[in-house]
Amino acid sequence: MRGAQHMDVRSGRGGLETSAVSDTLIDTALRRDDEQLTSPAPETLPAGKPEAGGNDMKVVALQGSPNDDGLTASLAEAALQGAAESGADTELVQLTEYQISSCGQCNNGWFKCREEGWCVIEDDFADIREKIMDADAWVLVTPVYFGDLSECVKAFTDRLRRCNVGAKGQGLEGKPVIGVAAAGGSGRGTPTCLMAMDRLFTHVGAEIADLITVTRRSSEYKSAALRVAARQMCEQMRS
Ligand SMILES: Cc1cc2nc3c(=O)[nH]c(=O)nc-3n(C[C@H](O)[C@H](O)[C@H](O)COP(=O)(O)O)c2cc1C
Repeated sequence: MRGAQHMDVRSGRGGLETSAVSDTLIDTALRRDDEQLTSPAPETLPAGKPEAGGNDMKVVALQGSPNDDGLTASLAEAALQGAAESGADTELVQLTEYQISSCGQCNNGWFKCREEGWCVIEDDFADIREKIMDADAWVLVTPVYFGDLSECVKAFTDRLRRCNVGAKGQGLEGKPVIGVAAAGGSGRGTPTCLMAMDRLFTHVGAEIADLITVTRRSSEYKSAALRVAARQMCEQMRS
């Protein structure tokens, strides 16, 4: 079992150079956001609105590829970069680095997950669940495997859904989330993978900020869009 990696999110990885996507709407949006970020901050803010850039919120990204230097990882980094640009603290969790068993379907299908909102299996599941429960928003990035979530994402989210579905599990209802399906192959199966995420987010009551499909061909501009989506997700939470 390993602890989570804390990371400083920096630019420059994952095809985020905006010059390559100039003359697009996304580039325009990024420039506009940059202008907003460099504008002088007001001396005082209305009550209830935390100061932008004051690390007033935390965004956690779960990435489900075993490859820490591939498409999926670069997309998780793009999302965290956008969140960091809005002033949020960020944390990347590479799920394959943790021990997360499949659901045991205890006791004819339901057990403590339904009764009390927790899972009896002793592994890293609870720690990772706590990270997203404690965060202000989260991002789930999975590689598309056989048109579905990757196995570690499935193992984690199957148990998450059981613990957080309905009234027993609290902590994810209304919490903003971005789901990303990263298809590094033909691109087939991306919609079904995204649909699996949509069902998950619905079951746990999450507020879907965006659902994004990415293929090899779209990775450059989708990565830029994801960065903007994460930044705006944070900004919308403050507004
Ligand atoms: C077991 C397996 C199944 C896959 N199934 C699909 C698929 O259904 N559609 C697709 O476009 N790519 C598929 N791929 C390619 C992955 O989506 C691709 O490896 C991944 O997005 C990029 O992963 P990376 O993060 O390691 O770069 C599959 C890959 C593996 C290993």
